[in-house]
Amino acid sequence: MKLCVALDMQSLDENLNLARGLNGLDIWMKVGLRSYLRDGALFLTELKKMNFKIFLDLKLHDIPNTMADAAEVIADLGIDMTNIHASAGKRAMSEVANRLSIKSSRPLLFAVSALTSFSQDEFFDVYNETINNRVRKFSIDAYECGLDGMVCSVFESKLIKQSTSNSFLTLTPGIRPFKESSDDQNRVADINTAKENLSDFIVVGRPIYKSDNPRMVVEKILSEI
Ligand code: C5P
Repeated sequence: MKLCVALDMQSLDENLNLARGLNGLDIWMKVGLRSYLRDGALFLTELKKMNFKIFLDLKLHDIPNTMADAAEVIADLGIDMTNIHASAGKRAMSEVANRLSIKSSRPLLFAVSALTSFSQDEFFDVYNETINNRVRKFSIDAYECGLDGMVCSVFESKLIKQSTSNSFLTLTPGIRPFKESSDDQNRVADINTAKENLSDFIVVGRPIYKSDNPRMVVEKILSEI
């Protein structure tokens, strides 16, 4: 299991300081929409100089050709992992996967299933289906389209592997390593639960960057992993 640290702080300087403070640790860095829109490729270059693996979390969702065009540009940024929404449909997932497969090097491609901020009721309002049923179908679709794995909550990780393959990866945000506040997340879990549910990557943001000693929290998480 690998740890992705969400660099969701307010400014470029704060994010870079956090990254510098974690230099040398065996972790991935997750760059989200706000940071990428504001700081762009420059931020990614700085992270690469520190030898971190980078997950660019832009959650593409559009018509198939537009998604595939964007995914090609993302691949050219030299990052290691990115994602698209499974609800864009099978044709979109296939087109993105196919377009990336012909590149000389490509990032791992994940499909977002059910956002970890959704409660069961909120999810049902949008999809008219339970989280488990919809996530199972999204996962089979994504697996058949040649993606590498799913973004999901810890509670669907095993179900996804059982419905597809053990080698189909799961990346689980909504982790509160030591039972910290859940903030705006709904389906949260600690590290042991993530382990028991076979998460391949866990994403942790606020419990790290809001602490007084982020490096100590990361080291503690790594020792638990
Ligand atoms: O601060 P926290 O640990 O809740 O951060 C979780 C990170 O994971 C955020 O950057 C959020 O955008 C991202 N994420 C998520 N749920 C998903 C996909 C991504 O929380 N399903």
